[in-house]
Amino acid sequence: MKCLKNMRGSGRMVLTALGCAALVVLSANAKVDNDPYLRPEMVPAPADNAPNEARVELGKALFFDPRLSGSKWISCATCHNPALGWSDGLPKGIGEGMKELGRATPTILNTAYNKLQMWDGRFRSLEEQALGPIQANVEMHKDMKALIAELKKISGYSEMFEKAYPGEGVSEKTLAKAIASFERTVVSTESAFDRWRMGDDHAVADEVKRGFSLFEGKANCSRCHQGFNFVDDGFHNIGLKGNTDQGRFAKVPVKVLKGAFKTPTLRDIELTAPYMHNGAYKTLEEVVDHYSRGGDMKEGLDPNIEALNLSKQEKSDLVAFMKSLTGKPMDITVPHLPN
Ligand code: HEC
Ligand code: HEC
Repeated sequence: MKCLKNMRGSGRMVLTALGCAALVVLSANAKVDNDPYLRPEMVPAPADNAPNEARVELGKALFFDPRLSGSKWISCATCHNPALGWSDGLPKGIGEGMKELGRATPTILNTAYNKLQMWDGRFRSLEEQALGPIQANVEMHKDMKALIAELKKISGYSEMFEKAYPGEGVSEKTLAKAIASFERTVVSTESAFDRWRMGDDHAVADEVKRGFSLFEGKANCSRCHQGFNFVDDGFHNIGLKGNTDQGRFAKVPVKVLKGAFKTPTLRDIELTAPYMHNGAYKTLEEVVDHYSRGGDMKEGLDPNIEALNLSKQEKSDLVAFMKSLTGKPMDITVPHLPN
């Protein structure tokens, strides 16, 4: 089908029903192609780890494999659960020996687009990040040397590593590269908001449209939550009550970064309660109340957080807008683990 060439990613084919002609027109629509609120189809990846099917398949098996943990009970997917928006539904993550972690589990959705990983941005790439939780005592608590030796003994894995990274062997490096390749497939899918951006005026209710105007206007949310992923790759202290975690300051000791955390994505935000690095809020309504009163702690507060005194209607409009960012569920099946 010739018109396939002109189609945007499968996540965005709202006009399919109108046939190929409409798609060609859509693709020629520069406004849609350049809309900063629509996710670019190209998922960035490092030059030495371009994704392919074998790499993604291997990474997926590893992501779901509890044999990567000391207890053989915990996999990446235990905390980054696809059924819970790639998070865990908990105020703070729970790892090895049921110990509570210091922070909430963020989604891995769209992490491929992040400039820095983690609430405090301590890792640059997904490759760098992937080996952390495996070895962390409170997370998966697994000795890396022992893990590599064990993986080498699983013949199914040896074959998969060879297919994915010919001649590179089973190593820390290829383990991290494979997991990162799978994570790069976990990207946001078409939401009602996206359909509206692409020109379907009926895709969202009026409250969503009003909510988005507030988001970009009076409520000033888009100051930090920018573009299709609603992030600015920056760190801010938003004045959470009782927060004692120094956040980015521990990594970069500059006064304004005390209690500052990375601006998280708002894609699929409806699915990943509770919210904030410490799980402080159970609902989006509570989050909006926080911003409406201008936060609770004034010390170190980001200058862009001030009392908004939103009306009841404005608050529910903002929540409706955020809920319009939920995409179609990804088609994820738990992989068959190699023996
Ligand atoms: C015990 C729960 C747990 C397990 C298991 C776990 N994670 Fe996480 N993950 C977290 C928490 C909590 C954070 C945030 C920690 C922080 O910022 O200090 C996090 C952060 C991340 C991030 C950064 C996301 C962002 O937006 O910055 C990525 C990517 C990630 N994990 C991938 C993985 C991978 C890959 C594995 C398996 C190798 C894994 N995680 C295992 C709890 C877990
Ligand atoms: C000054 C920058 C800034 C502004 C302005 C801002 N945010 Fe945030 N937002 C953040 C940061 C940083 C976090 C994470 C804070 C933390 O966990 O300590 C966050 C967290 C959130 C979360 C929770 C996300 C999650 O996964 O836990 C939601 C929802 C949210 N913001 C919505 C909004 C809305 C709605 C507005 C406007 C009323 C807004 N934000 C304004 C920076 C900002």
